[in-house]
Amino acid sequence: MSDPAKVPPADEAGYRFDTLAVRAGTERTAFGEHTEAMFLTSSFVHDSAEHAAAKFAGQAEGYIYSRFGNPTVRLFEKRLAALEGAGDCRATASGMAAIMAVLMSLTRSNDHIVCSQGVFGTTIQLFALFGRYGIETSYVPLADVGAWEAAIRPNTRMLFLETPSNPMTEVGDVRALAAVARRHGIPLVVDNCFCTPALQRPFELGADIVVHSATKYLDGQGRVLGGAVLGSEQYMNETLQPVLRYCGATLSAFNAWLLAKGLETLSVRMQRHSDNALAVARWLEAQPAVARVHYPWLESHPQHALARAQQGAGGAVLAFELHGADDDERRARAWRVVDGCRLLSITANLGDVKSTITHPASTTHGRMAPEARLEAGIGEGMLRVAVGLEDPQDICDDLARGLAARGTAPEAARAGVGG
Ligand SMILES: Cc1ncc(COP(=O)(O)O)c(C=O)c1O
Repeated sequence: MSDPAKVPPADEAGYRFDTLAVRAGTERTAFGEHTEAMFLTSSFVHDSAEHAAAKFAGQAEGYIYSRFGNPTVRLFEKRLAALEGAGDCRATASGMAAIMAVLMSLTRSNDHIVCSQGVFGTTIQLFALFGRYGIETSYVPLADVGAWEAAIRPNTRMLFLETPSNPMTEVGDVRALAAVARRHGIPLVVDNCFCTPALQRPFELGADIVVHSATKYLDGQGRVLGGAVLGSEQYMNETLQPVLRYCGATLSAFNAWLLAKGLETLSVRMQRHSDNALAVARWLEAQPAVARVHYPWLESHPQHALARAQQGAGGAVLAFELHGADDDERRARAWRVVDGCRLLSITANLGDVKSTITHPASTTHGRMAPEARLEAGIGEGMLRVAVGLEDPQDICDDLARGLAARGTAPEAARAGVGG
């Protein structure tokens, strides 16, 4: 049997990103397994009654119960913390559980938070739910740093943003917003779901807390739900851990194992997703039926320079808008494009190797008040594509089929990725 102590402590050895993605967090058991072990157990045994008492009192090290600690979950947490450059990480059952835990950890009744317009629709619903406990949310345009500062009140406890945003791919200036947050002593929370640490590292830009829907690109193959919160060790231990322990929004060991293995290929996947998405975005820009394409790596994107400064590549998600005389016509055209595609999957999920297409106004953002949706720029003619790892020419050919569906395009769609 091998000596577990011989496993290189990858997190501490100063390795680079791709090495950490493959190695960080690994703790080999006495059996000497090469791939990481999976611990499917709800509880852990103790050596004696005295040992049990010491562990429960926090006087002895060791796992107790998987709701608040499991070695496979810890593997995923340590690996992701190494990739984000965070003090520590706590995994959660889903991305929404991560956002909820952060909200519960930072606020009390009658507090206030500031959030960017155009975040994931369910995040807005969650914040609205917390309105029941007197927690009020102000929504501000992501790119307007002055509006963030103006919205801050004496009882503001968190600034929350998603960048790039879903589905508009708007880019927020994390460094500038971190300076605002620091001036007011308020934590800046960044949802890094679209970029992942392979393309964007918010802590290096001054963020205090990062959240993830691990369901998306951290897994990368559409297999499981998961989430994560990252921040300082002190925040994790003193502020977040009690919320997670008592609320039980725990990631399962099986899902944690898949997510940890997903991280191993993260940067390769994110680069290919980004290359494919840029090819599709350029092609869409040349289509007469398309009024506008939103993708941070296009020169036409309003925050293209900022995106280039803070991201390593554009990511997988793009949105585009169709022409139409009014909302009814734009929605009808958008739905015909969706129904006309044969390859792209009609599903609201993103972060999969399979490309997906969705109509945000009637799905992911369908529960938003129509005025708030319009203010966030999500019109009836908008479609979101999460570009997968298929051949980009096949993705364009499929979108051409959708755009050519009867009644959609003013002219027939032009084919060819380079178009
Ligand atoms: C940016 C963003 N944050 C959070 C979530 C929520 O994640 P989950 O579905 O894992 O709860 C999503 C889901 O699509 C998302 O796109």
